Amino acid sequence: MIRKATINDVIAIERLEKQTFGSSLGFNFLINEIEANDIAHYFVYEINNEIIGYIGVRIYDNNAEIFNFLIKDSHRSQGYGLELFNYFINYLNEYNIEKITLEVRKSNKQAMRFYLKQGFIHSHTRKNYYENNEDAYLLIKEVEKWLFYQLKVVVMKQVLQF
Ligand SMILES: CC(C)(COP(=O)(O)OP(=O)(O)OC[C@H]1O[C@@H](n2cnc3c(N)ncnc32)[C@H](O)[C@@H]1OP(=O)(O)O)[C@@H](O)C(=O)NCCC(=O)NCCS
Repeated sequence: MIRKATINDVIAIERLEKQTFGSSLGFNFLINEIEANDIAHYFVYEINNEIIGYIGVRIYDNNAEIFNFLIKDSHRSQGYGLELFNYFINYLNEYNIEKITLEVRKSNKQAMRFYLKQGFIHSHTRKNYYENNEDAYLLIKEVEKWLFYQLKVVVMKQVLQF
């Protein structure tokens, strides 16, 4: 089940972040994001009362910035990431979003492959961005206007006759 994160999820999120990245955005930061930051939108993927993944996004100025996105290592490559990501894309229809941005470590091939498959393109590189001097790739996905997209679907259905 995918649902909005609550402050009761913060311990699990922090643990997952530490397992995955070796560090976390931090307990207080996460509490503040989920409880008090109006531009922050966090969703968790829960299976049998266990949080197996989450996505954290900030929405401002027609822009959605993915802060963090992860699936527990034992649950990767089973489609959960894509499901969570598509849920989030669907949620964005409530907002007038023009682009989605994120930063990813140059060495993170698994995440890069995932994002490129979802239509992100490399915008530019932030040199020595991370604490170990690793470069960050800034990725961008342009979001089509919902109505324009719907129109394209209608036209495509007529052309393909299905
Ligand atoms: C990026 C991430 C969130 C993707 O989540 P995921 O659940 O593994 O993603 P999916 O399972 O939907 O897709 C991943 C791959 O599994 C494949 N897959 C999906 N369902 C599958 C299934 N049932 N059986 C086998 N493979 C499957 C997909 O085709 C995809 O293949 P690819 O690697 O060749 O592109 C995950 O890898 C992750 O948590 N990484 C570590 C954290 C991270 O780096 N986050 C990004 C920071 S910016």
